[in-house]
Amino acid sequence: MRILMVCLGNICRSPLAEGILQSKAQEKGLEIEVDSAGIGGWHAGQSPDHRSQKVASNNGISISHQRARKFVSDDFNKFDLILAMDADNKAELLKLAPNEMAKSKVKLILSYLKQSKFQNVPDPYYGNLNDFEEVYWLLDKALNNFINTTQLK
Ligand code: 4NP
Repeated sequence: MRILMVCLGNICRSPLAEGILQSKAQEKGLEIEVDSAGIGGWHAGQSPDHRSQKVASNNGISISHQRARKFVSDDFNKFDLILAMDADNKAELLKLAPNEMAKSKVKLILSYLKQSKFQNVPDPYYGNLNDFEEVYWLLDKALNNFINTTQLK
């Protein structure tokens, strides 16, 4: 299965989601491919935000090799599942989707966190390290449930 994580800038939330899922896949020997992209291209080519790198490395995960890129319509062909970090990202992806098949690939990542009051991963860009820690915690829980409830091959 090929999974794409999408947020607004591809420097804060989706790089963390990519790194966390990749790390869990490696631990469990799951054969999945994970990538991430942004709705906007303002940060294309940049490394993840240093605060995302910090909370990742505090949890034993390195995301420093990642480089931001803009989502492109060919991603609808390349990926089986497209996980949006928030409802705005999801709405933008649905606008870009060329057909129903493409639309059906788009889900909110926190839809895997059923007991939570959160539907959206809060944008931490203007926040502090605590906000990034909350993002990490939400993504980690959601991705554990994702792995436990999805037929991955
Ligand atoms: P992200 O956070 O979508 O989690 O990567 C943001 C990064 C950059 C901006 C907004 C959100 N920005 O406006 O540049």
